[in-house]
Amino acid sequence: MSVHISAKKGEIAPIVLMPGDPLRAKYIADNFLQDVKQVSSVRNALYFTGTYKGKAVSVGASGMGCPSIGIYSFELYNEYDVECIIRVGTCGAYTTDLKLFDIINVERAYSESTYALHAFGFTGEHMYHEGDAYETINEKAGERGMTIIKGAIHSSDIFYRDKKGTPEIAVKNDCPAVEMESFALFANARYLKKSAATLLTVSDIIPTHEQMSSADREKALKEMMELALESVLNM
Ligand code: HPA
Repeated sequence: MSVHISAKKGEIAPIVLMPGDPLRAKYIADNFLQDVKQVSSVRNALYFTGTYKGKAVSVGASGMGCPSIGIYSFELYNEYDVECIIRVGTCGAYTTDLKLFDIINVERAYSESTYALHAFGFTGEHMYHEGDAYETINEKAGERGMTIIKGAIHSSDIFYRDKKGTPEIAVKNDCPAVEMESFALFANARYLKKSAATLLTVSDIIPTHEQMSSADREKALKEMMELALESVLNM
C-alpha cells in the first residue's frame, strides 16, 4: 500500500478514471464496470477495480483541489505503476458562451498554484495534458458524433473569493471555465512521464448562477463516462 491508498500492488489497473467525489467513484463502478472489487477506502477515498467491455480499469476519488489530486495521482503513478489517469469532473463556466452539460477536453490548465514550481521546479502559468489520452478522447468523440470543446481552462486554488468577476489569469489566457485539479495532475504526469487527461462537464454558469440539478448530474455524467470509457478501449 501507499501512504494514502491501501490497495495491494497489482490491484489497481494501468488506467484510472478519477472523479473528485468518492461516491461518484462508487456510482461509476456500480453502473459502468463489471467484476468490480473495492481496493481502497483510506479516508473514505474509495477506489475500485473492474472491467469495461473486458478491459481492466480502476476508478477512484481525487478529492478537491491541487494538493489532494497531487497526492492521489502521484501515489498511483509512482507506486501502483498506473500509466494513465483521466480526471472526470465538473467545472464552472465563466461565460454564457458555455452551456450546462457542455463537455470540455482540457488541452492545458492555467493556475496561480505554486504546486508545479515547488514540487518539480516547473515554471510557467500552465501545464499541458500529457501523453496520448487527450487525442484518443478527441478521436473517440469524433467517432461518436459528439461535439466537445477543446482548450484551456483555469485550475483555481480558490472557490470562494472577495473579488467578483472572472479572475485575471482566466481573462488573460481565454479560459472559459474553472475547476481545481488539472494543473497538479498534469504536473505529476509530466514529472513522472505518464499520461493524463481531463474531461469536464459544465455544471454551473457562474455569471447567471444556473446550476445542474442532481438528476441532471447523473445524466451528464453518463455521456462523459461513456466517452472516457470508450476511449480507454483504444489506449
Ligand atoms: N469553481 C471551481 N471549481 C468548480 C466550479 C466552480 O465554480 N464548478 C465546478 N467545479
